[in-house]
Amino acid sequence: MKVAIASDHGGINIREEIKSLMDEMGIQYEDFGCECDTSVDYPDYALPVAEKVASGEFDRGILICGTGIGMSIAANKVKGIRCALVHDTFSAKATRAHNDSNMLAMGERVIGPGLAREIASIWLGTDFEGGRHETRVGKVSAYENK
Ligand code: RB5
Repeated sequence: MKVAIASDHGGINIREEIKSLMDEMGIQYEDFGCECDTSVDYPDYALPVAEKVASGEFDRGILICGTGIGMSIAANKVKGIRCALVHDTFSAKATRAHNDSNMLAMGERVIGPGLAREIASIWLGTDFEGGRHETRVGKVSAYENK
């Protein structure tokens, strides 16, 4: 699995935490910034990363900002992206198993690095269940493609 990761200035610490988790899990990733001390605009990071996942260049994407909200809104504008904003471990598992989310967004002003690491670990390690959930995800894709 190849993962693209990025954050704005509000998510740098969790981004580093998740990179060290992926090192431990042996997951290949590329970091798309930000290289920032000052304030940047989250769409400048969310949209290119989402496009890399939508094109198939990367299998999954992880985005972090202050709340995770801006990143998830922006990523979900890209066709083929199912970006889940997650701040608890139950949803981390459910959104992979049921929604086949291909991107994860988290907010560093909402949760700490420990919980973010657990969420990412579960999200990276859970497979899509398919079956009835495939039908549901398919209905969303059909709407997007009409
Ligand atoms: C930046 O101040 C903040 O707005 C951003 O990190 C994010 O929370 C937006 O949704």
